[in-house]
Amino acid sequence: MSVTVLFLPDRITVTAEPGERLLSVAARAGVSIPTSCLRGACYVCKVEIEGQANPVRACLETVPTELLTIVHRCSTTV
Ligand code: FES
Repeated sequence: MSVTVLFLPDRITVTAEPGERLLSVAARAGVSIPTSCLRGACYVCKVEIEGQANPVRACLETVPTELLTIVHRCSTTV
């Protein structure tokens, strides 16, 4: 069952499959998330997710089974 992913800073909504990597979903939606390593080591791809206390790495984080709202791309301001 598809899940809605909302990229709030870009005002873009896209559907994704649970387990898909956030970075792949963003790329498919035309949302640019900077990357450096794609292995989870550099933290350049950090994004904030609504309802989560700490940022996550978009290259590692997967889409959950319910609505996911990306509220901020951290690397553009760090
Ligand atoms: S691109 Fe390096 S941690 Fe995601």
